[in-house]
Amino acid sequence: PFRQRLLVVANRLPVSAVRRGEESWSLEVSAGGLVTALLGVKEFEARWIGWAGVNVPDEAGQRALTKALAEKRCIPVFLDEDIVHQYYNGYCNNILWPLFHYLGLPQEDRLATTRSFQSQFAAYKKANQMFADVVNQHYEEGDVVWCHDYHLMFLPKCLKDYNSKMKVGWFLHTPFPSSEIHRTLPSRSELLRAVLAADLVGFHTYDYARHFVSACTRILGLEGTPEGVEDQGRLTRVAAFPIGIDSDRFIRALEVPQVQEHIRELKERFAGRKVMLGVDRLDMIKGIPQKILAFEKFLEENSSWRDKVVLLQIAVPTRTDVPEYQKLTSQVHEIVGRINGRFGTLTAVPIHHLDRSLDFHALCALYAVTDVALVTSLRDGMNLVSYEFVACQDSKKGVLILSEFAGAAQSLGAGAILVNPWNITEVAASIGQALNMSAEEREKRHWHNFGHVTTHTAQEWAETFVSELNDTVVEAQLRI
Ligand code: UDP
Ligand code: G6P
Repeated sequence: PFRQRLLVVANRLPVSAVRRGEESWSLEVSAGGLVTALLGVKEFEARWIGWAGVNVPDEAGQRALTKALAEKRCIPVFLDEDIVHQYYNGYCNNILWPLFHYLGLPQEDRLATTRSFQSQFAAYKKANQMFADVVNQHYEEGDVVWCHDYHLMFLPKCLKDYNSKMKVGWFLHTPFPSSEIHRTLPSRSELLRAVLAADLVGFHTYDYARHFVSACTRILGLEGTPEGVEDQGRLTRVAAFPIGIDSDRFIRALEVPQVQEHIRELKERFAGRKVMLGVDRLDMIKGIPQKILAFEKFLEENSSWRDKVVLLQIAVPTRTDVPEYQKLTSQVHEIVGRINGRFGTLTAVPIHHLDRSLDFHALCALYAVTDVALVTSLRDGMNLVSYEFVACQDSKKGVLILSEFAGAAQSLGAGAILVNPWNITEVAASIGQALNMSAEEREKRHWHNFGHVTTHTAQEWAETFVSELNDTVVEAQLRI
């Protein structure tokens, strides 16, 4: 059967490279929701274009890595150290990421910020052009080019400048903030215009799409229609495409002997205690301090639970060269240490905090033995951890406590206990509610969520986006 060629362009490739020798590389699966969702995309003849997460200054190394990645259908974009510093650490993760999650622009020394802002924005544009060059080298007529996330907002424009006939879609994996927030960004207009060069622009939720359209109408003075944004007769289609996971992959994993062995070990290890679980990249948007403080409050107020519940927090290290992330790490360690000191005994501590990532099977086992999952994001595009937990809970039917500020609250809201993570009292109370919930109610809530997670998959998400992109291009041709 004919399979359309799809060029998936994202800053982060699904595998990250680790150098083992001058010309030898090993590849590890990258962490994060973008990669998880895109790994579930199978219907297409897909090629991946992106950064392998390492600096490779020498040609021999670049050649060897290009070859190793080709086996995974990945094509590298090589970014040097200075670009990574200014584009990835700087503009992407110190400016756009916090802003899109309502944490505002960095506020250190104003003048210095303005100066570095300029050079970081220049590096951002330069990096996007480098991605465009690689796409252009591999593009064949008829391909669909799907650009991902806040790292590549300039890419649609760079690609259309090369070839106005290219089918270009762009999808944002983070929230798009209210236009009142986007307005504060010095490069607000240039970024919006570059995104609008795409044929189709997608977001997780209707709210994010609406915010984007109003940013275009208020900041650029363009016309917003129910279909998207219009500029002198040209329409950029804007719509919501809520992402999902490859739920079968998780359900099947629970049958793997190694995972079952792991589940047995964990059950034995935590026998007699309820297991609460957090899985997050160690990012300020995840509300990890708020989560831990709520757990402390719960222990404080419910002394009978103190030796009967444990919180496992997997905090995957991320963006460790950005100072804000370094500060967060020490802040979280301090809180965890204080609480374990306060409520720990000679034989047990209430919080197990791990600064590391887990492999897929270990993660599935952990999801499966969990009684209560805690997702307390202050803002989160979707949050796939909540979906993965639900997929692995078919036998246990545990409870999901979920922040109302995660995109997932709109899909799992009826099955989860929704909370405002800033309200520590409310989160502490919901921990009590979850731990004491009747089996009947847990089952009812679980089925609601499980039904959603298994029917709104990553596969379906990608197919819907790509077919909408194909249709949009056909309709645009009819309009001319
Ligand atoms: N994850 C991972 N390694 C780990 C723990 C988690 O790769 O050690 C994955 C997890 O399975 C999930 C993703 O990271 O698919 C996190 O996605 P989410 O949408 O929850 O948040 P993001 O990290 O994208 O902000
Ligand atoms: C979020 C972003 C992704 C990113 C991931 C991991 O999910 O939306 O684009 O890949 O975090 O972050 P990193 O900076 O390691 O790629």
